Amino acid sequence: MSTFVFTLAWRQSSRFCHIRPIKHATSNVLSTKTSSVTGSIFEQIPKEELAPKTRPRLRDREFLPGSTGDGFPEFLAEPSDSFPVGMRVNTGDKSSLLELGANCMEYIKTNLANSQAILFRGLPAETAEDFLALTQGMRGKPLNYEGGATPRPKELKNSDIYFATTEPGAYTIELHNEMAYLKTFPRKVLFFCQKEPGESCGGETPLAKCSDIVSKLDPEVVKKFDVKGVMYVRYLPDKSRSDYMPWQHQFYTDDRKVAERGAQQQGYTVKWDDNGDMYLTYSAPAFLSHPVTGEKIWFNQITTHHCTYSKALPQYKGSDLPDEKYPHHTYYGDGSDIEPEVLQHIRAVSWSCATGFRWKKGDLIALNNLNVQHGRMAFTGERKILVHMTAD
Ligand SMILES: [Fe+2]
Repeated sequence: MSTFVFTLAWRQSSRFCHIRPIKHATSNVLSTKTSSVTGSIFEQIPKEELAPKTRPRLRDREFLPGSTGDGFPEFLAEPSDSFPVGMRVNTGDKSSLLELGANCMEYIKTNLANSQAILFRGLPAETAEDFLALTQGMRGKPLNYEGGATPRPKELKNSDIYFATTEPGAYTIELHNEMAYLKTFPRKVLFFCQKEPGESCGGETPLAKCSDIVSKLDPEVVKKFDVKGVMYVRYLPDKSRSDYMPWQHQFYTDDRKVAERGAQQQGYTVKWDDNGDMYLTYSAPAFLSHPVTGEKIWFNQITTHHCTYSKALPQYKGSDLPDEKYPHHTYYGDGSDIEPEVLQHIRAVSWSCATGFRWKKGDLIALNNLNVQHGRMAFTGERKILVHMTAD
């Protein structure tokens, strides 16, 4: 444990005096002592502890596009020894959430590039304010969600802590890199479990490494996307016409000019209908060049943003709208249609690379958004996951 980090954390804590003092560890912390083996407050959790009680079925799954088609895997895979990495946090007697956040970030900085996904369990955190304190201790550069593509209300005013999505629990959300359809996207995505799903209720967060996906994709498909890129188009109605992802909610403003400026800053071309509806277009590569390693990474939302995703949802059942009248749609970068068999192939391969873990209340997971795709399994009952994203 670094004295340097602690010093930073204490300086930081005086700037955030509204953060309530540390609570002692809750009952899901096995030990309040520092691990004597590693000299660290972290000790690895066996993968069995992260595994869902029953493996979620994927094939023929309701509201999951492609699940009845060719090549779709039967079940979601269980966690491996190294993906995601689960770390139990032995908090000690005097650690504040700011300190613990700083310690988690120290661990993330050292290990995320290899692990790609690190789950911290046993943090004495229960509320959105606790999650905020942890993120403040981490001292990342917060990223807002303006122009995002899921209904994501702010959980805490004047912060970048969000309720991950208000999409109905019945939907399974496809794998994607967060905000890959925008010019500015997070390097790290932090999810926090405020309320874990009940017994056998689903709600796992599936994860897949981009390198695994691209290694299994047909090279011809990869090549075509590499050459052409992806065009993202979006339809955001005025809130007077629909309460499902109106532009006022997605840009957190009622001011049309502010929304338009925000969209343009994110790289979108903007058009308006006379009725106040907003249309956005943005072309982007399907691959990212890693800012440090230069590695070419499969980084996109080709399937999640395709209209076939929306068409699989109950609210659009039986709908026959033009493709661009669904909330989002994708083309190849030259505006040509993506073939149905290519979409099916990408979906089947991506899910075959995915693994799922079971949330516990107070869990915090850090994802390397450049190298990992995530989604959400459908669930029943209550579940509440918060999210914080950082640009660094
Ligand atoms: Fe997401």
